[in-house]
Amino acid sequence: MQIRTATPHDWPALWPIVKTVVDAGETYAWRPTPSSDEMRHLWMEPPPWQVFVAELDGEVVGTAKVGPNRPGRGAHIATASFMVSPQHQGRGIGRGLGEFTIGWAGNAGYRGMQFNAVVETNSAAVALWSSLGFSVIGTVPAAFEHPVAGRVGLHIMYRALAPSAE
Ligand SMILES: CC(C)(COP(=O)(O)OP(=O)(O)OC[C@H]1O[C@@H](n2cnc3c(N)ncnc32)[C@H](O)[C@@H]1OP(=O)(O)O)[C@@H](O)C(=O)NCCC(=O)NCCS
Repeated sequence: MQIRTATPHDWPALWPIVKTVVDAGETYAWRPTPSSDEMRHLWMEPPPWQVFVAELDGEVVGTAKVGPNRPGRGAHIATASFMVSPQHQGRGIGRGLGEFTIGWAGNAGYRGMQFNAVVETNSAAVALWSSLGFSVIGTVPAAFEHPVAGRVGLHIMYRALAPSAE
């Protein structure tokens, strides 16, 4: 797997992945799914945001975005979002994107990373982020309308960051 900075040319390959994940309604709150153009603006945000893609044999199979969780006085804490193509989930791509993003953010000067809305039924994400050093620091009860499970909690997950010793 290769991870690189996304370019505008990646959107046609990213859109089907993003659309499938958002349409499923189990991990992201958008409803209805935004149009391709709306979603491109929401996902491919300009600097200081960074957007990455993961490629497998030249095919885009996942994406991550990272940027400041808050403006100004809160801007030293990052937040990030991740999507892996459903056909390629469970093969280490999310872990690779997570490790890469954590390393990138620490080296970019961020001193922590906060996930604001991890759906509590998203066991893959909760297990992955926990294994990468994140803790659930709180849960907003019944904050997410899951299509099957009904109203479930949203975890806030956090870990501290430091520059990697390169
Ligand atoms: C969450 C997501 C990014 C993980 O990416 P992935 O490529 O599927 O995950 P990986 O293959 O790297 O698995 C990493 C870990 O997740 C956990 N995991 C993966 N699939 C799982 C499952 N079905 N149930 C429980 N845990 C699971 C395991 O702990 C695994 O650890 P391992 O490396 O020791 O096996 C991906 O499933 C995804 O895009 N889901 C939809 C969107 C989403 O939920 N984004 C994150 C929002 S917080």
